[in-house]
Amino acid sequence: MTSPAQTLLLFGATGDLSRRMLLPSLFGLDADGLLPADLVIYGTARGELGDDGFRETAAKALAGIVAERKLDPSVQERFLNRLHYVAADASVPETLGAIGDAVRPNAGRLAIFLSTAPSLFEKTIAGLEMAGLAGEGTRLALEKPLGQDLESSREINDAVARVFPEKRTFRIDHYLGKETVQNLLALRFGNILFEPLWNASAIDHVQITVGETVGLEGRTSYFDGMGSLRDMVQNHMLQLLALVAMEAPAQFTATAVRDEKVKVLRSLRKLDAARESVIGQYTAGAVAGQPVPGYIDELGDPSATETFVALKAHVDNWRWHGVPFYLRTGKRLPSRKSEIVIQFKPVPHSMFSGRGAILHPNRLVITIQPDENIRFSIMAKQPGLDRGGIRLREVPLDIGLPNAFADVRRRIAYERLLLDLIEGDPTLFVRRDEVEAQWDWIDAIRAGWADNGMVPKNYPAGTWGPAAAIALTERDGVSWHD
Ligand code: BG6
Repeated sequence: MTSPAQTLLLFGATGDLSRRMLLPSLFGLDADGLLPADLVIYGTARGELGDDGFRETAAKALAGIVAERKLDPSVQERFLNRLHYVAADASVPETLGAIGDAVRPNAGRLAIFLSTAPSLFEKTIAGLEMAGLAGEGTRLALEKPLGQDLESSREINDAVARVFPEKRTFRIDHYLGKETVQNLLALRFGNILFEPLWNASAIDHVQITVGETVGLEGRTSYFDGMGSLRDMVQNHMLQLLALVAMEAPAQFTATAVRDEKVKVLRSLRKLDAARESVIGQYTAGAVAGQPVPGYIDELGDPSATETFVALKAHVDNWRWHGVPFYLRTGKRLPSRKSEIVIQFKPVPHSMFSGRGAILHPNRLVITIQPDENIRFSIMAKQPGLDRGGIRLREVPLDIGLPNAFADVRRRIAYERLLLDLIEGDPTLFVRRDEVEAQWDWIDAIRAGWADNGMVPKNYPAGTWGPAAAIALTERDGVSWHD
């Protein structure tokens, strides 16, 4: 399984994800000479495009990058020449025969990426099998959402497993491809400094925020059927939590890393939904100075779907006993910001208190977006002769990653994930047991909402969710890091 794929087959090749992320990522890899020289890329979708039509779609998707990187047109030409197109209807397994005929000569080393609606997965997989494209040398990548709850996710996973064994199944969570997310592993396990303190004895609480300024973005039927809990917490945020909370894996390998993550996910305590969760839905407001409509107006229908969720989670194990993990995410928040805050405890005794100095506990802020940054706040003495008492001040130790690695191009998450898929490294893909542990926890929260008759509270677009989300932390004496 370690030999690189010779053929990449993209389902949903003309869709939004493909145009915004997959084709630009593949092109970025090609421009840097990272794709196997003989890699051929087949796109497939329902429309009758032909190779030329697909190449045109791709060229449009790449125009911005080519201009920004001032690339020689020959680089684009080389990439476009790798592209081929076969029309097929993924909902009718028999129509995949044409793909089989085109791809089979190279099917010995094949990577397939399904970026289509999950309702099509089962039929697509049956079609792939019929077309002789599911053999030993084929790896299958699946885009989220993998189901809507544990039961539907199991159905999808069972359908996949009937044809593709787990070691050839690559479940995408694009947050795992983000540079700072992996930097979290480097920070925790590449330094002696933090790990001895990375537990309940020194950490007061953890906050994970993924804030978005966008609203529905036209994804009405998808998002309204899911809501923020299932769209963001079930996958991205729980993966971040798992990486923060897991024990040190013995090796940086797929099995070792995923074994540790799944232990954390299985240790999540079932939430008391009424006390430990807050849900919200945005009303009209302003984001970045621009007026925006409310969710219901955007949707055009009444809806009880949450566009914001805040949770107080606990990892029930020895390391994290009594340490809350506060999570929040939402649409139409004041800023696009993804960050992890590790709030350390105060020193047990301050020798400076008699001299009037106030100490702030240390805080580590790992910013994933919009900038990649790691900031550690420490106490330092303010210069001076201190006749009126010692003055200490919080100062940041900043690791601005773009500055530290200014000469390295920042890559989008899908570049890494696609290359890992092509090369057959599953470390940054999600294993079935992880997905199912995630759903198990999420389903219980939704059941709690139903039992308690909870419906989203309104919040004006451009604010950090309903007031109750602030109360969720404040009653523990904790403020969100805004
Ligand atoms: C996707 C969600 O998985 O992640 C979207 O479906 C969300 O609703 C997106 O906007 C956020 O990703 P990123 O990389 O922009 O933070």
